Amino acid sequence: MTRRSGSERSRRHSTTDGLAADLRASVRCHTATDGQEIVVRPLLATDREQLAARYEELSSDARRARFGSPPDQLSASELDRLLDLDYDSRFALAALLADDGDERGVGVARYARHSDDPNTAEVAVVVLDAYQHRGIGTMLLADLVEVARDHGIGIFSATVRWENTALLDAIRAAGATVTPDEPGIAAVTYDLAEERARDRE
Ligand SMILES: CC(C)(COP(=O)(O)OP(=O)(O)OC[C@H]1O[C@@H](n2cnc3c(N)ncnc32)[C@H](O)[C@@H]1OP(=O)(O)O)[C@@H](O)C(=O)NCCC(=O)NCCS
Repeated sequence: MTRRSGSERSRRHSTTDGLAADLRASVRCHTATDGQEIVVRPLLATDREQLAARYEELSSDARRARFGSPPDQLSASELDRLLDLDYDSRFALAALLADDGDERGVGVARYARHSDDPNTAEVAVVVLDAYQHRGIGTMLLADLVEVARDHGIGIFSATVRWENTALLDAIRAAGATVTPDEPGIAAVTYDLAEERARDRE
């Protein structure tokens, strides 16, 4: 499925409406390992209600791994923050099940460019527990890498709890560097240029 880059979008659409329409049209279709069709597209302001509802479906472990010390429900200001996207320095992609015309959100991956280092962006990803281990996290991150490259980002950084050992193993196997950060937290650095070189091998 074709998709235009974010930088192309920005150049073509100077109006907010034009950008919104283009973001809505910017979709990628994938197949999860269980055969389920998954659509990945930019997260939009119109996803607010679904974002709040899906958050409540996350297990406490998944919430903790993604949000640290999270509340049972997302507050209005937290939803505002999660939807405060400029689709350049702050970008989020949603994974949705294409289910009888309905779109059911099952995961989100996002990046936020560091204010003091525009080449680096903090990345975070979460997939609903019931849909994990089907390749959805991997497809979200692969698509986010492409978007980030289009926006001049060369490095992804992230923080992961050391107790999340299986995830850290998978991250290391993918070629990321893992170093100690605050107590209990690992700092992950992933060079997107090296990832491209690995793809070519
Ligand atoms: C991490 C996460 C996004 C992965 O999503 P996913 O859709 O299950 O990922 P994939 O199916 O593409 O899995 C890729 C590999 O990552 C690793 N992995 C996936 N989920 C994992 C988890 N919960 N814990 C540890 N490792 C995990 C495994 O090696 C997995 O391969 P496997 O399924 O053959 O075991 C998901 O587990 C999640 O939302 N966790 C809670 C939030 C979190 O930890 N986010 C990361 C820090 S921001």
